[in-house]
Amino acid sequence: NAMLNWQRTGFHFQPEKNWMNDPNGPVYYKGWYHLFYQYNPDGAIWGNKIAWGHAVSRDLVHWRHLPLAMVPDQWYDINGVWTGSATVLPDGRLAMLYTGSTNESVQVQCLAVPSDPSDPLLTNWTKYEGNPVLYPPAAIGPKDFRDPTTAWFDPSDKTWRIVIGSKDPHHAGIAVTYKTKDFISYELMPGVLHRVPGTGMWECIDFYPVGTRGRGADNGIDMSDAISKNGVVGDVVHVMKASMDDDRHDYYALGKYDAAANEWTPIDPENDVGIGMRYDWGKFYASKTFYDPAKRRRVLWGWVGETDSERADVAKGWASLQSLPRTVLFDTKTRSNLLQWPVEEVETLRKNATDLSGITIDYGSVFPLNLHRATQLDILAEFQIDRHAVMAINEADVGYNCSTSGGAANRGALGPFGLLVLADKLHLREQTAVYFYVAKGLDGRLTTHFCHDESRSSSANDIVKRVVGNVVPVLRGETLSVRVLVDHSIVESFAQGGRTTATSRVYPTEAIYANAGVYLFNNATAARVTAKTLVVHEMDSSYNQVYMADH
Ligand code: FRU
Repeated sequence: NAMLNWQRTGFHFQPEKNWMNDPNGPVYYKGWYHLFYQYNPDGAIWGNKIAWGHAVSRDLVHWRHLPLAMVPDQWYDINGVWTGSATVLPDGRLAMLYTGSTNESVQVQCLAVPSDPSDPLLTNWTKYEGNPVLYPPAAIGPKDFRDPTTAWFDPSDKTWRIVIGSKDPHHAGIAVTYKTKDFISYELMPGVLHRVPGTGMWECIDFYPVGTRGRGADNGIDMSDAISKNGVVGDVVHVMKASMDDDRHDYYALGKYDAAANEWTPIDPENDVGIGMRYDWGKFYASKTFYDPAKRRRVLWGWVGETDSERADVAKGWASLQSLPRTVLFDTKTRSNLLQWPVEEVETLRKNATDLSGITIDYGSVFPLNLHRATQLDILAEFQIDRHAVMAINEADVGYNCSTSGGAANRGALGPFGLLVLADKLHLREQTAVYFYVAKGLDGRLTTHFCHDESRSSSANDIVKRVVGNVVPVLRGETLSVRVLVDHSIVESFAQGGRTTATSRVYPTEAIYANAGVYLFNNATAARVTAKTLVVHEMDSSYNQVYMADH
């Protein structure tokens, strides 16, 4: 339906048509980045014939779409070739583990390898003839056993380890570990790697180290490189991420991994997996990282679904995007969270820059930015609240909460202020607010919230519109900064260098094409705000350049 074409994106990953969900088996192989993904070749909704879509890239930005890598054609995956992960072995070979949904809808783990390892495009895949390689163990439900991680090597007993997510009979989320020498036969390790009561089924577990000091904190780390014969090497913490089937968010926590004991423990029990930090406070699920040896970084992909109706998806013929690939690092300043940032290659799509730095927005006002096009943007903004106004206030809005405090229209003393994107230039009826909101305690302490308000993002009424976001740590001397990537029907924001992120799907009906605009706004009642930095880049489409598979 050409009428709905404006919702397609210019620089986010999406197949030409049909349904997509989780990113699968991301890996760097012989000079190419590979992205596989859950794909329904039959239509724009999820179904029981899920296959693996496949695309390759030299730079994580420009993609070449390849034929399906795997389809449900065996008794053990006939109800779906589900999510899985790639492991690169020391000799360069690749092992792909995935979940098969069997003819009886039992979740089993299966092995596949490239049919021709010399083909850098990895076009054809061979499923192991002895599949499945793993059945659900006795204590686990046949439908609660899925999404194997990338394996890592443990030199203490020279075996590979993988983790699989599940839930126990008490509705606790659990991560179970297996060891294997050959990816064919597996041994369940005693106990659980981790368990959190009340969190339900853990999908798409990810488990990886991040460096916490010096140069080690600037790069990514391959999981196998963080384990030595004597256990975990120094100056790393291990991130555990699980996708909570109960509330459909990706939660992570930082912790200590004891390889010998097969135990991971959160550093801050209040911020355990499933109850504390999220990768993203908006629409973002079933994510997965991989280690990129070419640029020595860890890269995160996340599935960004639709928030319109299934009917609308069928009408437009497609559903879902992948997030921008994000570099993941430990935050050496707060030492309590990760930092996520779009991979640097995204910046190659910047076409021009409009520098509007230095604009002061009075309280209660809206300021239009004079831009040529505003449907594909990369915006960098840094805000400063009037210091005297902040000091003059005793206490303000201590109970503020992005999702329950009324969004961008609800005025407080020191917020909300920020940007309105995909805002319709004629009457500002449609707008997606990306904003900060500062609360001040009686003790003088400031708490900064970072939020997206989707409630006015579209005049269509078949859409889930929320206000999403959370508190973002702001350290002494820091301005409030945000990078916002706008791409037709997605707004992806990274606050304070990526400490807090929010992703929204939006479906403007009027704020499209040349009628889409960007505004600064300040709805605080007591403080002026200055956009100390405001640089707006127009973004090229990633499919504009002809992309050659020159190998
Ligand atoms: C997560 C998930 C996975 C499963 C796949 C099926 O979105 O439910 O647990 O493997 O999607 O498509």
